[in-house]
Amino acid sequence: MKRITYISRLTSPLSRKEIEKIGITSIQNNKRGNITGFLVYFDKLFFQIIEGSAVKVDELFEKIGKDPRHQDIIRLKTENDVDHRLFPEWSMKMIDLNNNVDELVRPIKVLLQAVTESHAIIEQYTQPAVLKILNQGINPIVVNPSPVEKIVLFADIVSYSTISERMTIENVFLILNTYFDICSRIIRGKGGEVNKFLGDGLMAYFDVELVDDSIQACLDIMQELQDLRQSSSTQSPLRFLNSGFGLAKGTVIEGNMGSRFKTDFTIIGDAVNTASRLEELTREVNRSLVLSEPVKQSTKRPWIFINLGKYNLKGKEMNTEVFSIEHDLVNEFKDDIFDYE
Ligand SMILES: Cc1cc2nc3c(=O)[nH]c(=O)nc-3n(C[C@H](O)[C@H](O)[C@H](O)COP(=O)(O)O)c2cc1C
Repeated sequence: MKRITYISRLTSPLSRKEIEKIGITSIQNNKRGNITGFLVYFDKLFFQIIEGSAVKVDELFEKIGKDPRHQDIIRLKTENDVDHRLFPEWSMKMIDLNNNVDELVRPIKVLLQAVTESHAIIEQYTQPAVLKILNQGINPIVVNPSPVEKIVLFADIVSYSTISERMTIENVFLILNTYFDICSRIIRGKGGEVNKFLGDGLMAYFDVELVDDSIQACLDIMQELQDLRQSSSTQSPLRFLNSGFGLAKGTVIEGNMGSRFKTDFTIIGDAVNTASRLEELTREVNRSLVLSEPVKQSTKRPWIFINLGKYNLKGKEMNTEVFSIEHDLVNEFKDDIFDYE
């Protein structure tokens, strides 16, 4: 059996009748599916536990997740291999704390609110890969390192040191946050995962079958940065915002790295170093995207590749053949912010 505990927020206020309707439907459906649990509601919050067979619990949680009556659904806990129910007698016990004026319930209300707020914040700081593992009911700390094939992407702001020297702290933060926001949104939208922000750059990765999406993500970011530069006023620091991209493919080791004081769930391996070196090479070859041969080989879309020749990448014994793609956004790479002035 399986048990999921989550909290969520009402999308817009519901009348008592509408809440009761959720309860009536839930009891009917849950009896049929042999699901038990409770649904606490008060103020704008829901707090629910559902338990039953893994298949039925997953099905129901997916359905509940799509319900427009609530949003910001945060799983607090997923338990697999549950051997007994905590609430065997409740098909779905509805608990209305709004109308409960019992003094002893007040601390519980405060606690629920605190848990909701703190989890919403913690989620923002948690890597999606870790959340995925947690949502499978696995403790990420005990996950052993394992080899996986990935497309690794490195991206980095052009002339960041000049920008940061010449601009106010506020403008540097504006540039960085705008850049990370655009990159994260687009990479995520294409199925990739941003693993780390590294000063003025980032590392992300994609599953290998998403290789074309990884290239498209780079192009989409370039396009959005170009639009931003062109639409920004001459006073705006955003008109200097530009980025280089490196893409490499290979087997990396994914796992926990760090100490007992701070742990990262990250990847290490040759493809990581290569992607970083290729990104650095963008300045030398004057193209905003540089990729390795294995990346080129695994694409399916009809990109027009340009062979940039062999380069001696730092830390590599053999010369590496590197490529770029023929595309206006890639060709018109300006590797110095003075070019914009
Ligand atoms: C906070 C919340 C909790 C819910 N809990 C349940 C539940 O335990 N069981 C259930 O069948 N539906 C639950 N629902 C309703 C489902 O999202 C969905 O509307 C319903 O299952 C559809 O039922 P139907 O297919 O019989 O129309 C819940 C909805 C919300 C907003």
